[in-house]
Amino acid sequence: MFKVLGVSGSLRRASVNTAILRAAADLAPAHLQVVLFEGLGDLPLFNPDLEEEPFEAVLRWREALSGCDAVLISSPEYAHGVTGVIKNALDWVVGTAEFENKPTAVLNAATRSVFAPPALKGTLQVMGAHLVEKASITLGLPSNRLTCEDIRTHPEFSRLLREVLQELEQSTLQREPLPY
Ligand SMILES: Cc1cc2nc3c(=O)[nH]c(=O)nc-3n(C[C@H](O)[C@H](O)[C@H](O)COP(=O)(O)O)c2cc1C
Repeated sequence: MFKVLGVSGSLRRASVNTAILRAAADLAPAHLQVVLFEGLGDLPLFNPDLEEEPFEAVLRWREALSGCDAVLISSPEYAHGVTGVIKNALDWVVGTAEFENKPTAVLNAATRSVFAPPALKGTLQVMGAHLVEKASITLGLPSNRLTCEDIRTHPEFSRLLREVLQELEQSTLQREPLPY
């Protein structure tokens, strides 16, 4: 089983980014599992003084990242930047390096959000993630009111999400083995 960790950068109950990841989970082929990580809202605000503290929410986040084959992030843009939710979550794993060589794709829901996706990719790159560009696409949803069901049953968006999962898996499996 190829395991993808879905990470939404929005805590909003009706988040379209979370809906995208849920739709991807529903559309995944039988051998590929997309598991949504739902604990970003439980993470404390990052503070380097507390980096070694055994916060349960932080340990769960680090374990979820370590235990997956690839990561699929879908995150909104707030005020031309990444959301505090996703940045806080990433800051907690800079020092522990769970993203090092981790195949990672970044989804963007809206065509008008042009600042956050490159900023997020830049952060992931400096953290050592293996960014899968072919799987990092803008879906171009017409609204942020779409539900998981709307996305899953839409011919174009469902096709794109199936392709994203395929690219993420292929790119992961075709990677050069690490020299250690
Ligand atoms: C505080 C705030 C700031 C926003 N700033 C931007 C922005 O700069 N660019 C943009 O494209 N959308 C912006 N939006 C719109 C959100 O990206 C959009 O509502 C998105 O659907 C939220 O994601 P979610 O549905 O997953 O919660 C902003 C929304 C909020 C709440």
